[in-house]
Amino acid sequence: TPSLGQLRIRNKLSVGVSLVGPNKGEIVFIKQGSVDPVADCKEFDNSLVAQDVIAVDGTGEATFFFPGFVDTHIHASQYPNAGIFGNSTLLNWLETYTFPLEASLEHPEVAQEVYETVVRRTLSNGTTTAAYFATIDAESTKLLARICSLRNQRALIGKVCMDQNSPDYYRETTEMCLQNCRNVLSFLDQELGDPKVLPILTPRFAPSCSRELMLKLSQLSQDQGHLHIQTHLCESNEEISWVRALFPECETYTHVYEQFNLLTKKTVLAHCVHLTDDEAQLIKAAESGVSHCPTSNSSLTSGECKVRWLLDQGIKVGLGTDVSGGFACNILAAARQAHLVSRHLAMREQNLKLRDHWKLSVPEVLFLATMGGAQALDMEEKIGSFEVGKQFDAQLIDLQSPGSNVDVFAWQRPNSQINHTNNRVKLPPGITSEDLIAKWFFNGDDRNIRGVWVAGNPCHST
Ligand code: GUN
Ligand code: FE
Repeated sequence: TPSLGQLRIRNKLSVGVSLVGPNKGEIVFIKQGSVDPVADCKEFDNSLVAQDVIAVDGTGEATFFFPGFVDTHIHASQYPNAGIFGNSTLLNWLETYTFPLEASLEHPEVAQEVYETVVRRTLSNGTTTAAYFATIDAESTKLLARICSLRNQRALIGKVCMDQNSPDYYRETTEMCLQNCRNVLSFLDQELGDPKVLPILTPRFAPSCSRELMLKLSQLSQDQGHLHIQTHLCESNEEISWVRALFPECETYTHVYEQFNLLTKKTVLAHCVHLTDDEAQLIKAAESGVSHCPTSNSSLTSGECKVRWLLDQGIKVGLGTDVSGGFACNILAAARQAHLVSRHLAMREQNLKLRDHWKLSVPEVLFLATMGGAQALDMEEKIGSFEVGKQFDAQLIDLQSPGSNVDVFAWQRPNSQINHTNNRVKLPPGITSEDLIAKWFFNGDDRNIRGVWVAGNPCHST
């Protein structure tokens, strides 16, 4: 899905990926048909011999490579709470379920188990890139980065920043917070040195950040040559009222972030459920991205993000699982929820002519799951689709893998379309590749993922 609404199916292709040298991890050729691996690769590196060339055969009856999923918003630290939220709404959910859990990850053995599990589980569900929230604790945040690097997942790692309106047991002073941020930044840059694992500044959301903290974080980003930034925005009405009370000098919630220079091309804003026209304009002008988290928004009854309205304005939108506001770290499942939420908006539309416009199609939500996410994270030059020069971040899908929940029949559609004007029966085609993709979309899961690669490195297989 290289562009919104496009489903590009390329049959029987060979893809060459460089595993060494300056193009490491990149797609170096895409050719029609099968190739002689050694001969074709020698075009790019004359010194190659047969042992240097690894051939992966993805040809089966219903087998295809799909770009790896991009999760633009996931709280790695909240994974133990996935599915546990009762009837709570955002602000009481944070106090009751979330802050106590996040605080418990300051124990290294707890963090180790949680982070190992979440990285393994997201990879097995096809997530090749994730923008992670960790916790306020610097040491365990570094541990998450180490695990992503070791397991070969592409990741943005965020140490959570909060210096006000948070419980005493889970809050830092402004000074400590900035010091810990610098600590994590220098670890990623100097010690880990993995270009796939990068920092993302993470002011949790306006209520938990002082004006001074937000200003200093934006300065830190600029000093370091424009870092990624992630936060939450306009998730629930109660939250928005709170922000209005806390920042009376700002016209809207989005103006708070704008005022402290946190809206940049490398900023990703989770939720954006209740934006005004003016706020959407600010986001568009700043070229910030939106992370649509439909599973979370429905679970916490926060609201329905008007994705079509955002896309129509040219705002970049990706998908987020928002674990554990969302209950599954599975972007395919989040994409299905995005598909349904768009239909709920359609049902609410009184003007019947406009109803269909709200609906997101299967190729459109698959775009959000891949290329849209890449755009929202300002990484579209590197990931999101299969192109020469981009990284090979991929999942190998097999609709007939053991235990698959997708049943594919060798079935021809019945000849039911009778053209009554001339009584000729039109013979519709049988099941198409597009149909197979839709079957995978609605009924597929991790059992259909035979392998996952990031930058050409295998990171999961079944
Ligand atoms: N707003 C502030 N913190 C959070 C969080 O952890 N999850 C969600 N969904 N919204 C938030
Ligand atoms: Fe969140």
